Amino acid sequence: EDFLATVAEKSHGAALRGDYASADAQYVVQQDWAAYTEEEHALWRRLYQRQMALLPGRACNEFIEALQGLNAADGIPQFEATSKKLEAATGWTIVAVPGLIPELTFFDHLANRRFPVTVWLRKPEEFNYIVEPDVFHDFFGHVPLLFNPVFADYMQRYGQGGLKAMQLGGLDQLARLYWYTVEFGLINTPEGLRIYGAGILSSGGEVEYCLTPGTTSRHIHLDIKRCLNTLYKIDTYQETYFVINSFDELFEGTAPDFTPYYEELKSKTPYPANSLLDGETELLPG
Ligand code: PHE
Ligand code: FE
Repeated sequence: EDFLATVAEKSHGAALRGDYASADAQYVVQQDWAAYTEEEHALWRRLYQRQMALLPGRACNEFIEALQGLNAADGIPQFEATSKKLEAATGWTIVAVPGLIPELTFFDHLANRRFPVTVWLRKPEEFNYIVEPDVFHDFFGHVPLLFNPVFADYMQRYGQGGLKAMQLGGLDQLARLYWYTVEFGLINTPEGLRIYGAGILSSGGEVEYCLTPGTTSRHIHLDIKRCLNTLYKIDTYQETYFVINSFDELFEGTAPDFTPYYEELKSKTPYPANSLLDGETELLPG
């Protein structure tokens, strides 16, 4: 398989963990909820409790409220049940996948308001850190905000934008936007900065780190073109967090045609992950 070979190469020969043999052409599998062990449900509960204790005053209200409506504290959730609630709320559904999937397939799911959620759970020794997305990251981190109508629309538009970026050679740029918003985004609220990015919300350490003043990381207002041109770290806490003022701002800021952005950025050197440019203000002063 072409895709599996590429991923194996990218991850230095490590094999993908999921069962790709039983996936359909869209990489969708059955969740097989009955096959999770009691140890796995117990590990999920520990992950859930640890994160929940960290979220008040740090995660945005939209996330916390939607999460509470999912009743996902007692064990690995059944995707079917959540998918029904989600479909009623915003027209999104959840599909089960064996793990990472090809970009084209991923974008196609998003463009059709389907969110792919990995079925397997990390091992106990990966409690604090895991390289690949697992069911805890995908479900706990990503699903709650899909209940927000504006964010839900943003995600669909992102999928459509991904299919377009593939044609235009803009994938590296567009991936940075996903990273700095969907995975590591912060939002400004009357109570202060709050987290909406799934990569932070499912991480034991970064929830606190990203809101601690005086670290070496930047917290700057999201400018779309600037973000498209900014490198990111995959194996440390982020050195830059981009802050939005509202999900409406995010939706409207990404509405323009990105074709000229990609054209312009092709000949530019990307900014390092830790850059502060002229005119940019640190939003979490030490
Ligand atoms: N407006 C972007 C384009 O035309 C697509 C997009 C929308 C990308 C929303 C990201 C988020 O390419
Ligand atoms: Fe993710």
